[in-house]
Amino acid sequence: MRSPKRRPVVAIDGPSGVGKTTVSRLVARRLSLSYIDTGAMYRAVALRAEDDGIDLTSDSELERFCKRVDVCFDTESGRIFVDGEDYTDRIRSPRAGELASMVSARKPVREFLVGVQREAGKNGGVVMEGRDIGTVVFPDAEVKFFLDASPSERTRRRYLELAGKNPSIRLEDVEREMEERDRRDTSRDISPLRRAGDAIYIDTTGLTIEEVVERIVNTVKERPGYGDICC
Ligand code: DC
Repeated sequence: MRSPKRRPVVAIDGPSGVGKTTVSRLVARRLSLSYIDTGAMYRAVALRAEDDGIDLTSDSELERFCKRVDVCFDTESGRIFVDGEDYTDRIRSPRAGELASMVSARKPVREFLVGVQREAGKNGGVVMEGRDIGTVVFPDAEVKFFLDASPSERTRRRYLELAGKNPSIRLEDVEREMEERDRRDTSRDISPLRRAGDAIYIDTTGLTIEEVVERIVNTVKERPGYGDICC
């Protein structure tokens, strides 16, 4: 049975480009909780599978691959490792996002990473960010949030993030990729992106990062008992 004094699992889900990673990291820091980016796991596994020459459309190849790899998100450094190799510096490329969106629709990969994520959060005390944390990974998470923003705002945010690294990137390309990713993430058969019925919905359009963080932190602190445990 779960201890009444257990520190919470805070689930933060939402579509791409909504600012989940930045917000979740800051929330974890403010609440002195660990932070786990599950998207980083899908991205790193996708890159590793491609590096290993795995056919990303073959469930049997992906299943064999998942049985032999070890994935670790280091909550101290925020770095992601596959078989001890550091993938952190490669996972933010548009290519990694595209491959992650592909493999995250495959059953063997989802089953594997959901297992890794449940293990990582089983003792609570974690802010976990993704698409299916409040619905599948931790349906009984103590506090759940669903962050959203208008498609044009999400495109703008993702464009600004990518343009910082690659000034020649075009807004229309980011927009097209975002639409494609949204379509794939919401229409796949297994764990499609959807809001958990008991998740707190935050439309972040027009809000600053600090305002979103403040809202989440205050909500967690207001939950009976949690203020004394984690903050
Ligand atoms: O959040 P992100 O952009 O880093 O996620 C990369 C891809 O991984 C995205 O297409 C959706 C997928 N993903 C998922 O299916 N489930 C998660 N819990 C996290 C990410």
